[in-house]
Amino acid sequence: METMSAFRAFRVHQDEGGFSAGIDVLQLSELPDSDVDIEVYYSSVNYKDGLASTPKGKVVTSYPRILGIDLAGKVIASRCREFQPGDEVLCTGYGLGVSHDGGYAEIARVPADWLVKLPEGLSLRDSMALGTAGFTAALSVDRLLLNELRPSDGPVLVRGATGGVGSVAVNILSRLGFEVVAATGKPEAEAALRSWGAADVISREAAAEGIKGALGRTRWAAVVDPVGGAGLGEILKAVKYGGSVALSGLTGGGAFEASVFPFILRGVNLLGIDSVYCPQAKRLELWERLGADWRPDQVLQDGVKEYGLEQLEDALSVVLDGKVLGRQVVALKTSN
Ligand SMILES: NC(=O)c1ccc[n+]([C@@H]2O[C@H](COP(=O)([O-])OP(=O)(O)OC[C@H]3O[C@@H](n4cnc5c(N)ncnc54)[C@H](OP(=O)(O)O)[C@@H]3O)[C@@H](O)[C@H]2O)c1
Repeated sequence: METMSAFRAFRVHQDEGGFSAGIDVLQLSELPDSDVDIEVYYSSVNYKDGLASTPKGKVVTSYPRILGIDLAGKVIASRCREFQPGDEVLCTGYGLGVSHDGGYAEIARVPADWLVKLPEGLSLRDSMALGTAGFTAALSVDRLLLNELRPSDGPVLVRGATGGVGSVAVNILSRLGFEVVAATGKPEAEAALRSWGAADVISREAAAEGIKGALGRTRWAAVVDPVGGAGLGEILKAVKYGGSVALSGLTGGGAFEASVFPFILRGVNLLGIDSVYCPQAKRLELWERLGADWRPDQVLQDGVKEYGLEQLEDALSVVLDGKVLGRQVVALKTSN
């Protein structure tokens, strides 16, 4: 395999000249020291990438930084035994695109223990069509199942349903036989949400409507929540006895008010979901499932938009404006 010495990457800078972002041409010697060199075929665009591309995003820890919290590609050089040139791998989270150069680059260099071998049932493109958002949806579903959620328990609410975490969660849950209610701020996306497996589609406001008092009518057996914000406090009042909320995100805000009553009178569980430092054994297990019995076929088929490195800024604006419908992948290899 011929290794290129100069390669393109989307980097952010913060220096005397202020904040800037764009495509730079770099040399291999400018990458951080690490175990495995990867020719990146695909990356993806997550909400966190959008924040990282702004001066006040509070995501990037030092500059300059190649962005991209996800990548998938082929190993081109390895200084460890577990990976060999030609291996197809993916990487999500850890310091990627935050404190370590990330996936918006034709070449990346990462620690071996951040890597996952591409699972059966997913192409490199599929794995990035899922990316951190899809993996977080899988983690959310996994935690709900570990907390004994069963299809017979009743409807499961998915908030931010047109987004990355939401769309994949809708698809996985419906594949597993759950009645999924999708909450969205985009009424025009109803047909897409139904095609991904939603049995019903409601507005953001209807999902999070204010309830007087500490408890309300029980509506949800469980909730997948990448939105958070004030609405979460209302939703907790409507979770059924013993039900769970898998909380992963904050597109609706970082704070909410709640009382102890859903927890002490209905045994409701609030489950925190973190994909970034998820232990490797769980990563491998869930990536296998995403390529097999949990594979979200409908989102992978119709819910993915592809961008080249040159159009990355458009894709980052879509995510920052809350206009995502499904997932956005970035093709690196084909944009040469
Ligand atoms: N904990 C973790 O490890 C982890 C991993 C991945 C993501 N996250 C977090 O999860 C969230 C979603 O990530 P993502 O990549 O799925 O983002 P995304 O693709 O941009 O989707 C976010 C969705 O949230 C909804 N939304 C946007 N603005 C909103 C607002 N003001 N109020 C209510 N809903 C709003 C929209 O869906 P509708 O229009 O359909 O309502 C939007 O499509 C982010 O906060 C992200 O940081 C956390």
